[in-house]
Amino acid sequence: MKVIHTIAELGKYQRPAFVPTMGNLHEGHIALVKQAKALGDVTVASIFVNRLQFLPHEDFGTYPRTLEADCKKLEAAGCDVVFAPSEAELYPEPQGYKVQPPAELADILEGHFRPGFFTGVCTVVLKLFNIVQPGVAVFGAKDYQQQMVIRRMVAQMALPIEIVTGATLRADDGLALSSRNGYLSPAERAEAVQLSRTLKGMIAALKMGERNIAAIEQHAMKTLADRHWQPDYLSVRRRHDLQPPQAGDFGADKLVVLGAAKLGTTRLIDNIEV
Ligand code: PAJ
Repeated sequence: MKVIHTIAELGKYQRPAFVPTMGNLHEGHIALVKQAKALGDVTVASIFVNRLQFLPHEDFGTYPRTLEADCKKLEAAGCDVVFAPSEAELYPEPQGYKVQPPAELADILEGHFRPGFFTGVCTVVLKLFNIVQPGVAVFGAKDYQQQMVIRRMVAQMALPIEIVTGATLRADDGLALSSRNGYLSPAERAEAVQLSRTLKGMIAALKMGERNIAAIEQHAMKTLADRHWQPDYLSVRRRHDLQPPQAGDFGADKLVVLGAAKLGTTRLIDNIEV
């Protein structure tokens, strides 16, 4: 496996399969790499903690940077190339040109609570796409809105890249794997499963025939708040555009429940397709 830090060194790979990450890799990332391996001759993973997608009060400074351990895991997974640029390499001058995704998709849910987040994500992903020139790129369903925003960008910008979404990998108790789980104390880690449990409770209510979405969402928010979480949102949305469901949207395979909540100082997100 080659570890590359500069754009110039990357030139020679022909339309590889690509997995962009911010590092501190766990089994969820590795599953995406294994999926990518089946989709192209060469697999490239990138590791770059992208300042543009963090708000000033967020964890850019403390986000875990574990390049050596990450490379070991990627090598074991059969990754061919790791692209780990420095900030000076990727942003040699302030990134004044940015990709602004449409408000109806990017200013809701995550984008509402993290203004500018998806502009930061789209900008770095487009830039990485231009550098890596992949034929296919794999994103995790764990970040449901992110993979949707990227899919729409690729379609609207006519980028010749296939976007594949990999399933969310979970711990045995149901907690979605995340680099940020490492911030949790043992007691918080035990409590963290309540986020996915609450999403499952929302699905159970829908399956029982409850159609009052506001009631389902408020009950879920209260469930977590009563357990001393600070929920940002717990929402029932349409899968295809992440808008609130209308009367005809309750058929099979049309909905997704999404949630984000803070436990102590750690913000966790998750979603489950209904
Ligand atoms: P990061 O949080 O490192 O995630 C990299 C990829 O791994 C994303 O596509 C994410 O959805 C996926 N992923 C994370 N946890 C997962 C899990 N438990 N199961 C399956 N896939 C999982 O997402 C980002 O980085 C950044 O926003 C990035 C796209 C790299 C742009 O900076």
